[in-house]
Amino acid sequence: MKEKVVGLLNEAREQELHAISQYMAQHYELEDQGYGKLGKQLKQIAITEMKHAEELAERILFLGGSPVTKPAGEVKKGLSIADLLKNDIQLESGAVKMYNDYAKLCAEEGDHISKGIFEKLLADEEEHLDDFQMTLDHVEKLGDVFITTLIE
Ligand SMILES: [Fe+2]
Ligand SMILES: [Fe+2]
Repeated sequence: MKEKVVGLLNEAREQELHAISQYMAQHYELEDQGYGKLGKQLKQIAITEMKHAEELAERILFLGGSPVTKPAGEVKKGLSIADLLKNDIQLESGAVKMYNDYAKLCAEEGDHISKGIFEKLLADEEEHLDDFQMTLDHVEKLGDVFITTLIE
């Protein structure tokens, strides 16, 4: 039971580590380009993902496993605001699907604490997905008029 659940928790941790690096990189790029408002939002989301990575690591350690340190993917740089949001929507949709599936698998393994962790993370990822989707909708509908509001 434990090895399988540790594997799931570590896969989730890889995704979190990737999201952290990706959102931090976007935060720096956006701040640099003057889009501080969106930059700050990404900074806050990156901090939430750091807490997720920590929570997963604590559970992995409790179960006798070793938390992974390598992110799941490469950070993308130099994207337009619309493309950057599309990229983040993909990341969050992936996490939502993964955590739904993994919560179910943890229950099947009889580990309800790990299931609860996935459910808690899932609620945050749904919120991130909603935020990114809403921002992309504004960008697509309003274009530069909206993008100007992100300047800070
Ligand atoms: Fe997360
Ligand atoms: Fe997220």
